[in-house]
Amino acid sequence: MKFFVDTADIGDIRELAESGLLDGVTTNPSLIHKSGRNFLEVVKEIADLVPGPVSAEVVATDHDEMMREAEILRKLADNIAVKVPLTLDGLKACRALTGDGTMVNVTLCFTANQALLAAKAGASFISPFVGRHDDIGFDGMEIISDIRIIYDNYDFATEILVASIRHPVHILQSAKIGADVITAPPAVIRQLFKHPLTDRGLEGFAADWAKTGQSIG
Ligand code: G3P
Repeated sequence: MKFFVDTADIGDIRELAESGLLDGVTTNPSLIHKSGRNFLEVVKEIADLVPGPVSAEVVATDHDEMMREAEILRKLADNIAVKVPLTLDGLKACRALTGDGTMVNVTLCFTANQALLAAKAGASFISPFVGRHDDIGFDGMEIISDIRIIYDNYDFATEILVASIRHPVHILQSAKIGADVITAPPAVIRQLFKHPLTDRGLEGFAADWAKTGQSIG
């Protein structure tokens, strides 16, 4: 399973990239706003830092304007995945862009049927938002299971990119279902490394090792 980080914060991206475990980055207009940076500048910087796919989202809602914005975004770097919304115009843009060899991430997906449409439009990635589903009292992960079944039934190449992740259990469930990619906030990715027994175990080993009076090498 690939790990993307959902942020436009260069400091966080750099730190996670240094771990060697980061496969890509996703951004959205809200994350760009949070970064306080110029959109095109920050996306270019991220794409230079991380070799994997970097999602940059169009803000237009009509097809022609989306295509104009996509043209600017895809010229920033070879690893840009243009992010388009799951609307009729968005899927038309998806079909045109992927037909032209551009990676496309279809975002704001909330049903398995929408994911089916995105796959038929040739999307490289489909982004179902699990956390926002949970927020309104539904089980977001059920949609991931349904999409996995549908994509496997028809051998769709579209990768399931689980988005709107709120906690490590979403990542565990994504891996068990066989999602292709997760994108999570930096804090959630950092949580994956942590366990109190790991910390306690390290302290115990360090204390016992000190008592041996030895050193390695
Ligand atoms: O980038 C798309 C998605 O991950 C947004 O998550 O937390 O705003 O629901 P959130």
